[in-house]
This record gives sequence, structure tokens and C-alpha cells, in this order.
Amino acid sequence: MAIPQNIIDQVQDRTDIVEVISRYISLKKIGRNYKTTCPFHHEKTPSFIVSPDKQIYHCFGCGAGGNVFSFLMKHENIQFPEAVEMLAEKAGVALGRISARSEEASSLANELYKINDLACKFYQAHLLNNKAAREYLSSRGVGDEVIKKFRIGYAPDSWDATLNFFKSKGVSASLLEKAGLVIPNEKGSHYDRFRNRILFPIMDLKDRILGFGGRVLDSSLPKYINSPETPVYSKGRNLYGLNLTRDAIKKKGYALIVEGYLDFIIPYQAGVQNIIATLGTALTVDHVKLLKRLANTLIMVYDPDEAGEAASLRGLELLVSEDVNVYIAELPSGFDPDGYIRKFGTEEFTKLLKASKNLFEYKFAKLSQKFNANTTHGKANIAAEMLQTIAKIKNAVSRSDLIKKLAERLSVDEDSLRIELKKVKPEYAENRNVAPVIEVRKDSKSAEVMMLALSLGGAEYISKIEKQLSLEEFKDSSVRDVMSAIFDLHKDNKEITAAKLINYLGNRGEDAKLISEAVNLLDIMEDKEKALNDCVAKIKKDNMDDRRNRLQEAIRAAHKHKDEEACKKLLSEYNDLLKTSKAYTPTA
Ligand code: CTP
Ligand code: MN
Repeated sequence: MAIPQNIIDQVQDRTDIVEVISRYISLKKIGRNYKTTCPFHHEKTPSFIVSPDKQIYHCFGCGAGGNVFSFLMKHENIQFPEAVEMLAEKAGVALGRISARSEEASSLANELYKINDLACKFYQAHLLNNKAAREYLSSRGVGDEVIKKFRIGYAPDSWDATLNFFKSKGVSASLLEKAGLVIPNEKGSHYDRFRNRILFPIMDLKDRILGFGGRVLDSSLPKYINSPETPVYSKGRNLYGLNLTRDAIKKKGYALIVEGYLDFIIPYQAGVQNIIATLGTALTVDHVKLLKRLANTLIMVYDPDEAGEAASLRGLELLVSEDVNVYIAELPSGFDPDGYIRKFGTEEFTKLLKASKNLFEYKFAKLSQKFNANTTHGKANIAAEMLQTIAKIKNAVSRSDLIKKLAERLSVDEDSLRIELKKVKPEYAENRNVAPVIEVRKDSKSAEVMMLALSLGGAEYISKIEKQLSLEEFKDSSVRDVMSAIFDLHKDNKEITAAKLINYLGNRGEDAKLISEAVNLLDIMEDKEKALNDCVAKIKKDNMDDRRNRLQEAIRAAHKHKDEEACKKLLSEYNDLLKTSKAYTPTA
């Protein structure tokens, strides 16, 4: 649902961030700004600043930051359009002029929510009347209380019960098809998707029903039939049960991740409530983003054979690059969380969680089973695999720590691991035409953020930066995205404020953080001209260095393949580069 930019600007202009934030937490005035303890991380001394001038908040402790919408999104766990909606009314801005198309989309979504809710009630009623279904649930240890809480139902054994029920309510088959409740046949009519199955409704954080998962009552196949992707349901973006467990997750500070409905419900019922389930898919970045707002530690409770697979380990590395702590709790072979708790009880299950290993330990243990860590060959194999994971860790200190640990474990030299680590990265950058996924060194990123900060200091700085740097020279992709937006707005002669820039970029968390960080940098910058010149030189030099390294690699490769022509060409490129780079070598 896209709200036009001018409407967002109006709401932004008529809303005061201090007023809104102080509805949630108390703020104390210090100088021009307001200060308090950060609501997004645990702290004793306040490092959360709200600036009425800039209409920005920023936490110096955890780096959270953004404008009034970003605050609401994070605090209320809602999306950007919803945050705009929330403030529009108070600001006296009518959202009525939102484009017809998005209005259509949101009214379709609302209709689908209503239909799903009706369907859920229909299936709940059928469960009450069906002895076999109730007996099945009770044989699985699912009690009445959770049946109610999770709104579990039963789809009758019929090809058209759902269809007819909705017909009597005046709901068309085509709309039911959009909801994923019925399926069209060749003759142009429809039949029920869910027949003779226990139904688990999948809800979003607002308790709206998005779709269903349906399990057979016996061992026939397929075991599950699920709602398809619909305008309101996407498997990769929703997690089962989060609407009912988010508070427990927040409170505990970590979430357990399991793989199925019953693996969620049985532990939940047994009192383990900081839990969520993925629904027949691997964990996606969107899932992680959803969870990251609540807790930054995740424990995967998986089948041992499965979690040990290289493929799923690689999946877990996604979490590492998202900056969350990943632990793996291993169940004994043949058990899933449901079966384990039913057999051994919650206490044993909790012990198992306590014994969970972090991803590093876990992967190391798995690799040590596979390769002999006492031979040079084995060590090399283990190191190569481990370095893949370590390379994904954003924090240089943690990375360095792990290298040290790995060196100890393998009794190898730390420096040689560091050399190997450097080799891991060019693998992503093989194609010189593709922007290399080289991790930005801390100092070169800060020079780039400085440019961003200066851009917020006035149009004259933007002109200066634009003259000296092209977008490609910004190595950090988030900074590059923001700079690109700034250049665009500048071209159109638009007013650029930090708060509006965040909206212009769709109010994505990372951008908002970056921009609020930049705002604060600008405040403490003394000699802006000098900062600008220094940072431009630094960015130029880093780019040169990178290009030189890449050229050297390429020359080496060309040499190896005895490709003389390529060698010659690359060498002359290299010499040209050396000439230009002299111009940027710091003279002082
Ligand atoms: N799943 C699915 N389709 C299947 C099998 C599984 O969508 N044919 C999804 C379901 O969301 C299921 C999850 O994958 O909950 C885990 O699968 P599995 O472990 O096989 O099922 P359980 O939930 O453990 O079900 P049960 O214990 O009843 O066998
Ligand atoms: Mn199971």
C-alpha cells in the first residue's frame, strides 16, 4: 500500500516526535534535546536522545534511530503505512486521497481477513461436533485450552461444505479462491481445499487469520495441506504463533525456533512459551527481521540429522550475517520437540536448551566428526568451512575472537587463518563487474557516513560531494542507497531533512538508523570543510586500494593461465591506476 509522498510529508510536518514518544515513555529535557533510557535495549544510564529540531531519535547505546514513524514501527511492531495512518488522523491529514489501486488492495485484504475469520469459526464449530477429530487431538496431547487459544478447527470430510457455507453468506467462489479456501476445477466450478483435516489457523501479529495448515487424522499422504500464497499470506514472511508468544520472547530475550505446528503447540502447552514455528520453509531474512525486534538470540531446536546437514547449516549463516546470536539445541535422534516433551517432560527439554551450542561450536563439532582434526588435510578442510561462517560476522572484534578460538582448537597459527580468511571474500567478488561483497572496513565506512552527515548539513555540501564522488565509490551499500536518494532529491531541488529523507527511503530500519547516526555526527563535527576533504580523500584512497588489489589478483590469475594478452592489458591498467592514485596519496 503506497501512500503518496506528499501525504507522508504532510503528516511528518504536522507531528511532533517529542509529543508522540512521550505518550510511550517519559522524556527529560536536557538543553535543546530530550533524554531517557532506551526502550529498545536494556540500560541504566540514559543514551536515548530525541531531537525536536531534527525530529529524530537516536540511541547511542544500541544504535536504534529514526523519525517518528520509525519509532512507532519499532515500538508497536507495525509497518510504515500503518504508522502513517496512526498519526494521520491526529495530524488532520486525510488519507482519502490514497491511490485507488492501493485502496482496492487494502479492501481486498480486509475482505480476505473477514472470510478467513468466518472460515475459522466454521471449522471450530465442526471440531466440536466431530468426535474423531477431537479424539485425534487428544491422542496427540493437545488440550482444550490450547485448542481454543490457537483456534484449532476441523474441515469436514466434504468437497463443498466450505463452498456452500460461504454461498449461504453471499461470498463468491472467486473470492474464496483468492483466500485459498477453494480450488477451481476444469469445469469452471470449485471444490474445498481442506477436507477431513485438523486445521491450524496461521495468524499475524494483529491476530488476523492469514491462512491455514491442515493435517490428516491418520498416516495418509500428504500429511499437510496448506493455504497457498495469497494477497494476505506469505510463508516466508510469517511465523506460526508469534502473535501469542511475542511477549514471552521479549521477556526471555531469546526465541526457540521449531519446525511444525505440534512442535510449537506441545511445548507451549507445557509452559515453554518463548517459541515460534516456521511452516515448512527454511528461516528467511524476513523471518529473522521479525524476530530481531523482539530478541537477538535464537535457539534452533531441530532434528539432529537435519540440522547437521550442510545445507541447513548454511541457512543458519544467514542469521549470522543478520547479526543475531544463533544456538542449536540438539534433540536425540528420532525425536522432535513435541515427542521429546511428551516423553521426557519440560524439565528435560529445558536442560537440552541449556546445553545448546552456539553456531560456531556446533559447526566445529560437526566438522570434527567429518574430518580428522589431527591431520593437516583435516585441519585445512575444517578451517575452510569454519572461515565461511566467520567471514559473515559483521563485528570485527567477534570475528577476531573466533579466529583466535579456531586457531587454538586446530593448533594452527592465527596469522595463517587470517590470511585464509582474506581469501574467503574474493570468492564473492569473482566477477569484477558485479559490486564486490567485500566487507567494508570500519574506518572507510565511517568516512562514508561522514559524507552522509555533511549532506544533511545543507545543499552546498551536497553539491561539493557530488562533484568529487560518484555513487559507485561508496562501498557500503546502505550508505550508497541513502546517498543516491540524497542526490536525487538534490537534483529536484527538494528540501532535504533527516526526518523526510527517512520517509523518502520507505522508512527501512537500517536507513533510519544510519541517518539518525549521521545527524548526531553532524552536530559534533567542528570543521566541516576539513572533514569533507579528509573523507573524500579517504574514500578515494580506499577505492584505489580495492581496485589495485583486484587488479593484482587478476594479473596473478592471467599469469597462471599464461594469458599474455590479458596480462599486458591488466598491467597497463595497473600502471594507470598507480599514476592516478599518487594524486590522492596523503601528502602530509
Ligand atoms: N509440512 C508441510 N507439508 C508436509 C509436511 C510438513 O507443510 N507435507 C510442514 C508443516 O507446517 C509441519 C512442518 O512442516 O508442521 C513440520 O513437518 P513434520 O515434522 O513432518 O510434521 P509435524 O508438525 O511434526 O507433524 P506430526 O508430528 O503430526 O507428524
Ligand atoms: Mn512431529
